[in-house]
Amino acid sequence: MISFICNNKEVFEDCPSGLPVLDWIRSQTALKGTKEGCREGDCGACTVIIGRLVNEEVKYSASCSCLLPIGEIAGCHLVTIEGISEGEKLTPFQKSFYDQAASQCGFCTPGMIMSLTGNLLSTKEFSSEAAIEALDGNICRCTGYLAVKRAVDNVMKTLPSEYDNRIEMLIDNGHIPDYFKTIPGRLKNLPVLKKIARGPVVAGGTDLYVHSSDNLSAQEPTFLSLDPKLNYIKTDNKHVRIGSTVTFAQLRESKIITELFPSLKSFLLRVSSTQIRARATVGGNIVNASPIADITIILLALNTTLRISERHIPLCDFFLGYKKLDMQPDDILKEVSFPVPAQGTVLSSLKVSKREFLDIASVNSSMLIRVEDNIILNARVAAGGVSPIPLLLVKTSDYLCGRNLTEKTIETACSIAASEISPISDVRGSKEYKIKLLQAQIRAHLTRGVKS
Ligand SMILES: Cc1cc2nc3c(=O)[nH]c(=O)nc-3n(C[C@H](O)[C@H](O)[C@H](O)COP(=O)(O)OP(=O)(O)OC[C@H]3O[C@@H](n4cnc5c(N)ncnc54)[C@H](O)[C@@H]3O)c2cc1C
Ligand code: FES
Ligand code: FES
Repeated sequence: MISFICNNKEVFEDCPSGLPVLDWIRSQTALKGTKEGCREGDCGACTVIIGRLVNEEVKYSASCSCLLPIGEIAGCHLVTIEGISEGEKLTPFQKSFYDQAASQCGFCTPGMIMSLTGNLLSTKEFSSEAAIEALDGNICRCTGYLAVKRAVDNVMKTLPSEYDNRIEMLIDNGHIPDYFKTIPGRLKNLPVLKKIARGPVVAGGTDLYVHSSDNLSAQEPTFLSLDPKLNYIKTDNKHVRIGSTVTFAQLRESKIITELFPSLKSFLLRVSSTQIRARATVGGNIVNASPIADITIILLALNTTLRISERHIPLCDFFLGYKKLDMQPDDILKEVSFPVPAQGTVLSSLKVSKREFLDIASVNSSMLIRVEDNIILNARVAAGGVSPIPLLLVKTSDYLCGRNLTEKTIETACSIAASEISPISDVRGSKEYKIKLLQAQIRAHLTRGVKS
């Protein structure tokens, strides 16, 4: 039995815990506002808000229900579009979309309203910019985005900058109904009955559910994200240690990470979307072994070590071939750790993709670099999309260390890089284009390194 609160109602459901939340929602006759579009996390039509009780407080975030197994929301508050207003009354965002003609066929609208409401419930500060950013995982195919932007701006202007209690303020302003006040107490009293996991390991599910949703629907997966022991970011000033279920959103919000690598916060906006970042984990990004995995490329540049079960292995030795890993079927990646870089070291990360947002890379790369008096004291560069595996460019990195940073050095580094990669031509670009992309990125990393 899986128990949760859906909108204002306690639910006790006897179904496989691998069932996607979207399929459960669509099977309820009163909940048809959540739409099924791509089933791949790409369109945002299925967006819901999940509230999880953390230290007496409910933390809300928007999520794609097509990639979210129902077992993960045991003990949580599931909010669908029907749960953010009472009766026929429209919320300020719904009314503003209507007033600004921001909805034509309306298929994408519930998902957009849920992303915007999710942002109000979770953002540190209210701003039009942050609200628009929260729509980075919602695609509209007929209205266009200018009317949506106008509708969002008009609402964001009306929100107070100061308030005592966010939930009460949002209730007073009509963004959520009164029953939200009762949710923390009700979640605390909800019996959470654990199911015995027998199925495959799921972390965020953002890779697995894209490919194997039908297969997982009938299973009882092992949900790593429910294990608090795997979720932390800490440092002893020599190393940074990250539990494998840390999400991209947590990385982006982490003080430890953003203080060490200030540019990462904006780079991470280019990685998937708000809904996916709320679920996708660091461990899943590595074990999925995609040659263009953005976080893996960064971690390679940072000289990361993996703790798999009780074994330690350098990340650069983990990939044995395309999707072939130095790992046994029952192994669990528990932690990634890397040395705190020396003072003056800069992490530079770049990604070129066909679409600016919500797209995977044609080529991505990261360089950890320290330059003093125009001498490269340290450089470590990794690249994706240029080989069957996420690749540490060993020869290029070795060449750069100790050199004067001159045009000749940059040119030589670019030609060494070209010699140690083996890109293929595919939908993301020809082999020749990818070589040029990587060389342009190496040049840009080195120029950034000089500037800082
Ligand atoms: C719309 C969309 C956009 C995306 N955009 C990007 C992008 O821009 N950049 C990018 O890099 N990726 C992107 N992805 C891919 C995906 O989000 C990431 O690869 C993510 O990190 C996968 O993590 P997860 O926790 O969801 O993995 P899951 O799907 O839960 O798992 C992936 C695989 O890893 C295994 N696994 C997971 N964690 C562990 C562990 N700790 N130990 C052992 N095995 C484990 C699982 O069994 C499974 O085989 C996108 C995905 C979607 C759906
Ligand atoms: S149906 Fe498209 S993101 Fe879920
Ligand atoms: S209004 Fe039709 S897809 Fe957005």
